[in-house]
Amino acid sequence: TRPLKVALLGCGVVGTEVARIMTTHADDLAARIGAPLELAGIAVRRPGKVRDGIDPGLVTTDATALVKRGDIDVVIEVIGGIEPARTLITTAFEHGASVVSANKALLAEDGTTLYDAAGRGGRDLYFEAAVAGAIPLVRPLRESLAGDRVDRVLGIVNGTTNFILDRMDTAGSGYSEALDEATALGYAEADPTADVEGFDAAAKAAILAGIAFHTRVRLDDVHREGITEVTSADLASAKRMGCTVKLLAICERAADGRSVTARVHPAMIPLSHPLASVREAYNAVFVEAEAAGQLMFYGPGAGGAPTASAVLGDLVAVCRNRLAGATGPGESAYTRLPVSPMGDV
Ligand code: HSE
Repeated sequence: TRPLKVALLGCGVVGTEVARIMTTHADDLAARIGAPLELAGIAVRRPGKVRDGIDPGLVTTDATALVKRGDIDVVIEVIGGIEPARTLITTAFEHGASVVSANKALLAEDGTTLYDAAGRGGRDLYFEAAVAGAIPLVRPLRESLAGDRVDRVLGIVNGTTNFILDRMDTAGSGYSEALDEATALGYAEADPTADVEGFDAAAKAAILAGIAFHTRVRLDDVHREGITEVTSADLASAKRMGCTVKLLAICERAADGRSVTARVHPAMIPLSHPLASVREAYNAVFVEAEAAGQLMFYGPGAGGAPTASAVLGDLVAVCRNRLAGATGPGESAYTRLPVSPMGDV
């Protein structure tokens, strides 16, 4: 069997782990897929910063030329941000590749452009790594629960803010002290405003609502409030009431089933709820479905290796589809439901 050619766009913390695991687990991956993988090129912005263990012969600064080669089977996009990622992904589809992306901001802001480009090219767009790192969530919602009816999704999907609230609650830390600690541990975004003001969680809420309800939800549709106003006194009074405070992404289907809502805000939750026990920078997503009942997905939601695990799972799935001449769920699997930011609160 001919090798499947993979191009990697971005070689930061996640990209480096993806390249490393593709090399060290090459035999296992080939067995899972039914064909060997060949890492055909790695596009980076600053070649001087490429980490140890990466073959310098594969590194290029010309990402556009790499996705236009025409012989690439799968492009893995771990650059993040809107541009140049969006143009690179659409160009990759135009040149026959399938795409695995971890880009939550782009999917939330302009997923439609990507899904349309995938559909036109008859290729796959998989994005397990965009929400909650290693936790299998996108495919369970898009595929495993596709025969059920999801009513509500409650998620702790930002590790940084969960870490801060947890430290304020249990260690008596102040807000800025806890934020400094989260930044030092590498959980926070380059600009932690995205975490503490809820933008990161809102992007993930948009993606989750879209896949849970098989519709399209954009970042602008999500009501958003961060944790900057939460004080240690709020946490103490929540505790006196048998509760804790978590930044929740809440996605709901209206009772009549005809519209959906998505919102992110700090919420009091009873200590008896499974989400109350999610500590430190862990993520968890609680799903309520008509037939399945209550499910909880829990695990590390950030970091190089956990995110790489999700990327590689997608890579295997996309490669299997390719060899079978098939694609996973595409635009036709979606209905369009109106989205309102708050719904019936
Ligand atoms: N800054 C994000 C978080 C990283 O804290 O969860 C993972 O998306």
